[in-house]
Amino acid sequence: MATKIKCEDISKTYIGDGVTTHAVKNIDLSFKKGEFTSIIGPSGSGKSTLLSLIGTLDKPTEGKILYDGEEIMKQGKRKIADFRFEEIGFIFQQFHLLPTLTALENVLTPLFGRKVNYSKQKRAKEVLEQVGLADKLNSLPSQLSGGQQQRVAIARAIVHKPSWLLADEPTGNLDTETGEKIFELLKQLNEQEGCSVLYVTHDPNLAQKANRIISMQDGIILEDKDVVVL
Ligand SMILES: Nc1ncnc2c1ncn2[C@@H]1O[C@H](COP(=O)(O)OP(=O)(O)O)[C@@H](O)[C@H]1O
Ligand SMILES: [Mg+2]
Repeated sequence: MATKIKCEDISKTYIGDGVTTHAVKNIDLSFKKGEFTSIIGPSGSGKSTLLSLIGTLDKPTEGKILYDGEEIMKQGKRKIADFRFEEIGFIFQQFHLLPTLTALENVLTPLFGRKVNYSKQKRAKEVLEQVGLADKLNSLPSQLSGGQQQRVAIARAIVHKPSWLLADEPTGNLDTETGEKIFELLKQLNEQEGCSVLYVTHDPNLAQKANRIISMQDGIILEDKDVVVL
């Protein structure tokens, strides 16, 4: 279980059609297990890129990311996929649910082909209950509201018990009230399950409720501050 993630001088450059984009530039950052961190910044500032690098979905062009001292991206594909399965849960703005599968089946998808020491069905029901959808197990995404669909996506992100929850503008498609409830749910998972949350948001009101706020602009970190609770 990775208790610390350390980004050492990481950069990500996209090259295509004669255009070079420095999406992330020489970033040094550390994250400790148990923290709830907000990442804010204007569109195009590199937030999603940073999150996908931390989540091992993409590889930095330069620099390295250490997970308890280990550079996972140096491993083979299989090892990286295993690491991601054990450690990381993702939540996106677009819920990315499979439309023909029920809520329960969607939540089960990360567990397909995986050997685990618990009952998959029982675990999937348990997390759907945890996100407040005990009565929607057999509903299709089209039969659920936006907020409920995001709850299914959160259940799917935590079903395999990851230590790190990476959320990329998860409330971006939701109204303010529903967004706040989703935020509270993630806060609760952070406090009760101890999983670390990296929360990308445009909403300064939500960002303020984290333990730490990182502001990005043009691929760099403008500010990194702890939130003092008075
Ligand atoms: N796959 C990609 N190919 C080329 N450019 C990309 C790619 N992904 C992101 N970018 C560019 O990198 C910059 C940062 O993007 P992104 O990380 O998505 O920012 P944010 O999430 O803060 O809006 C933007 O200029 C974007 O256009
Ligand atoms: Mg983004």
